Amino acid sequence: MKIFAYGIRDDEKPSLEEWKAANPEVEVDYTQDLLTPETAKLAEGADSAVVYQQLDYTRETLTALANVGVTNLSLRNVGTDNIDFDAAREFNFNISNVPVYSPNAIAEHSMIQLSRLLRRTKALDAKIAKHDLRWAPTIGREMRMQTVGVIGTGHIGRVAINILKGFGAKVIAYDKFPNAELQAEGLYVDTLDELYAQADAISLYVPGVPENHHLINADAISKMKDGVVIMNAARGNLMDIDAVIDGLNSGKISDFGMDVYENEVGLFNEDWSNKEFPDSKIADLIARENVLVTPHTAFYTTKAVLEMVHQSFDAAVAFANGETPAIAVKY
Ligand code: COI
Repeated sequence: MKIFAYGIRDDEKPSLEEWKAANPEVEVDYTQDLLTPETAKLAEGADSAVVYQQLDYTRETLTALANVGVTNLSLRNVGTDNIDFDAAREFNFNISNVPVYSPNAIAEHSMIQLSRLLRRTKALDAKIAKHDLRWAPTIGREMRMQTVGVIGTGHIGRVAINILKGFGAKVIAYDKFPNAELQAEGLYVDTLDELYAQADAISLYVPGVPENHHLINADAISKMKDGVVIMNAARGNLMDIDAVIDGLNSGKISDFGMDVYENEVGLFNEDWSNKEFPDSKIADLIARENVLVTPHTAFYTTKAVLEMVHQSFDAAVAFANGETPAIAVKY
């Protein structure tokens, strides 16, 4: 059996070597290049391809891969929003993702950022770097005094809720598909409008599916409390970033944390030191003391990377054996 992997980063290699050692019967070949119509031929002769990229899996790319005989595709990440599913269907692609690699990685990061926003650590750090060790005016707020609205209560949202409970925050939640345990605890509000009206801080954990596109827009923001804090480590397209910037300018939004950005492909995970950002909105957001930007690193922990590699390669083997792994994408 042969697996060909695309886009392998240096930080994934130890996990890949570990997997290879545990699966000596599988021949593994890989490249650091992403899967494109041009690189598809590298997978020729493989039973499955393993991939991760934010670049779209377009019709052309999927056609090129199918043309070299590879229609088993295992993603090393959760998001499938960049796949042309119509094309995938036409070629009968078997696709898997890694829906649960480490909910804690993302939940922890989002809650660390939310705590940092409440304690104004960016302003404090800037003061300290200038040798100004005075307290005022950088006074913080306590988590236990906040009503935190959690939008999306899947695996990640539920870990975030547990962290919030540890802090003693009052949690309210919204999900189209409520979780039975949280429902029994009475955490849910019935509508997003109710959540917006009650929450001092809001954190998002919903997928970037079309129906959630610009969920947080000017209308939604207008229904939120004055001085609301917003944290988004889910998907960039959940936010109408212009509306968020307007909200920050007016003070309606007091603080904002973002780990994802609608136009992040080609911007995040690139080195811009000594260069101007190619995106004036990101430059503006990064410069603000009440905004924390991280470049889609919420997921980026040793545990998560290991799970992404191991689970995707296991799924690739299952597909190659004609089996349907538990993490096959139903589409
Ligand atoms: C995903 O798993 O879809 C993520 O958002 C993390 C990705 C940057 C590897």
